[in-house]
Amino acid sequence: MFASAPNFLVCVAFSLFRTSSAVGTPFGLAAGTTGGGSATPAVPSSLAQLTTWLSDSTARVILLDKIYDFTSNDGTTTGTICKPWTCSPNPQFAIDANSWCEKEQPNAAKSKATYPVAGTKPLVVGSNKTLLGKGSSGGIKGKGLKITGAHNIIIQNIKITDINAQYVWGGDALQIDGGSNIWVDSNYVATSAIMFQHIGRQMVVTGYGAVTKTTFSNNVFNGDSTYSATCNGCHYWVALFTGAGDQITFALNYLYKTSGRGPHVGGSSGKFQNVHVYNNYFVSVAGHAVDPEVGSKILLEGNYFNAVTTPALSGAGQTYIPTTAAQTAACSALLGRACVANVLLSSGSLQAGTDAGTLNGFTAATFKSASIKAAAAVPSYVQAHAGVGIVN
Ligand SMILES: *[C@@H]1O[C@H](CO)[C@@H](O)[C@H](O)[C@H]1NC(C)=O
Repeated sequence: MFASAPNFLVCVAFSLFRTSSAVGTPFGLAAGTTGGGSATPAVPSSLAQLTTWLSDSTARVILLDKIYDFTSNDGTTTGTICKPWTCSPNPQFAIDANSWCEKEQPNAAKSKATYPVAGTKPLVVGSNKTLLGKGSSGGIKGKGLKITGAHNIIIQNIKITDINAQYVWGGDALQIDGGSNIWVDSNYVATSAIMFQHIGRQMVVTGYGAVTKTTFSNNVFNGDSTYSATCNGCHYWVALFTGAGDQITFALNYLYKTSGRGPHVGGSSGKFQNVHVYNNYFVSVAGHAVDPEVGSKILLEGNYFNAVTTPALSGAGQTYIPTTAAQTAACSALLGRACVANVLLSSGSLQAGTDAGTLNGFTAATFKSASIKAAAAVPSYVQAHAGVGIVN
């Protein structure tokens, strides 16, 4: 009997510890990611301390127990904006960053606007960090996160919201330009808020540096917005993966009221990306979801599209999108398992992607052994598990 007592104590200590460190185990390509590991979780006492802790070279578990509001942190600026979208009501405007208006939208009407600088200066995230929200109350407002060539990062259970929602180029929620072992899980981004709502531009975006061993899972991408590029209350700029060699798992996410880039993969010649998009729940997408552009290989399986105008564009990328029994079975030769069919409800037709060459990009063990649910199980699972307040 005495011998079992210490074991009992160890278990209690372990479960207490688990309430403050990353919850669950990274899966998909981010398997093995540890973030700040066993560092003692700590709550930053100020915006400045959060900024330092995220960017320094110490392994940390940073616990957010409230919204850190950076909106006024860097003051305001007045500059040129243009109006590339002439729809109504409430089109987004574009900040003339790097002369984008002159270069890309020379005919767009111009004016001046005053807006917070914070959104355009993201928080730098270094290697070996866990950024974890407590309950449903942790998050960052007015500023996003930027990872540049850093490794071993977990971002879990936080909200990222309200980053210059009216302005494209007003800020991204999460940018990653090069990096590996990154797990972005159970967050809530909204254009007004990562994980994502009320964001000016991208909810998530990769640059040209390779982003590998990375998983986006259980996140809510809430596109419900006042301002949009499509003037339909749905955010266009959801997920954009363009790195030279991106290797990404995108699974079990909830995309709601978006209108584009869900995700957009590829688009630059000579750059290649492999993205495994599975068991996501797409709801009320008034536009398109998957956008496969040149250089991309996308395996799209077991997703559920509910009221999605265009589930996938037929772009220049390579896709494998099984919708029939013969197409799911055809995966066996390269993956050693059947693929899982996608399901549509009240949605536009999903053109089957049958480019078998796509599957050559998914022969690694991670893809072969992926545990993929039947699409019919996805709506209830994702609604119960995605977003903040469910873990930790
Ligand atoms: C991250 O942790 C690993 C393993 O402890 C270490 O080798 C590496 O130097 C750390 N990186 C930074 C930037 O501190």
